[in-house]
Amino acid sequence: MNKARFITLEGGEGTGKTTNLAFIKECLERHGQRVIVTREPGGTPVGEKIRAIFLGEGDVSPESELLLVFAARAQHLRDIIEPALASGAWVLCDRFTDASYAYQGGGRQVDNTLILLLEEMVQKGRKPDLTILFDAPVEVGMARAKRRGGSDRMETEDLKFHERVRMAYLQLAEQNPMRIKIINASRPLDEVQASIAYYLTSLFES
Ligand code: TMP
Repeated sequence: MNKARFITLEGGEGTGKTTNLAFIKECLERHGQRVIVTREPGGTPVGEKIRAIFLGEGDVSPESELLLVFAARAQHLRDIIEPALASGAWVLCDRFTDASYAYQGGGRQVDNTLILLLEEMVQKGRKPDLTILFDAPVEVGMARAKRRGGSDRMETEDLKFHERVRMAYLQLAEQNPMRIKIINASRPLDEVQASIAYYLTSLFES
């Protein structure tokens, strides 16, 4: 049996990370792993309440946004992520701290040193073992997100905002090439899933 791993999925709006969540869970379970699927912001009763505030209507300042996602993360780590990993379950999380660097750092242009400070305080060294970054041109992702319907506070931001988010994600991947694997999400689903399976296999073998 492998050591329990922490896997996160990241990407801009409409890049298909949520669609592929079930596929990844199934791959892991086929390899005999117990899997906890969760998401951020959210994942706990308190975190889900924070998510509603975070994505709801209203003028939320960039710093408030940052504090909200890290408040939810602190609860999530304590109540779900750390206990799951300690029990030997793999954790599959739809977004984590890379999203704070991409959206609050890149999109809202909050100073990255503030994000780093909170990351150190809240995570106490915990980092994902593997991050799959779904990447697609912003227009492609936004069109998909629109077709899906509904639009939250982030989805209604302009293209420039989402371009900055994408660039920040790509920069994070460049800075963390061992952990963050980029998937070209513009390709057909079977090709995307073949790439995902390849990265998961490397995790089983390591
Ligand atoms: P989604 O997970 O359904 O895509 O929605 C979550 C939204 O929250 C998405 O627009 C990205 C945003 N977000 C941040 O801005 N910062 C964060 O740290 C996280 C986890 C999410």
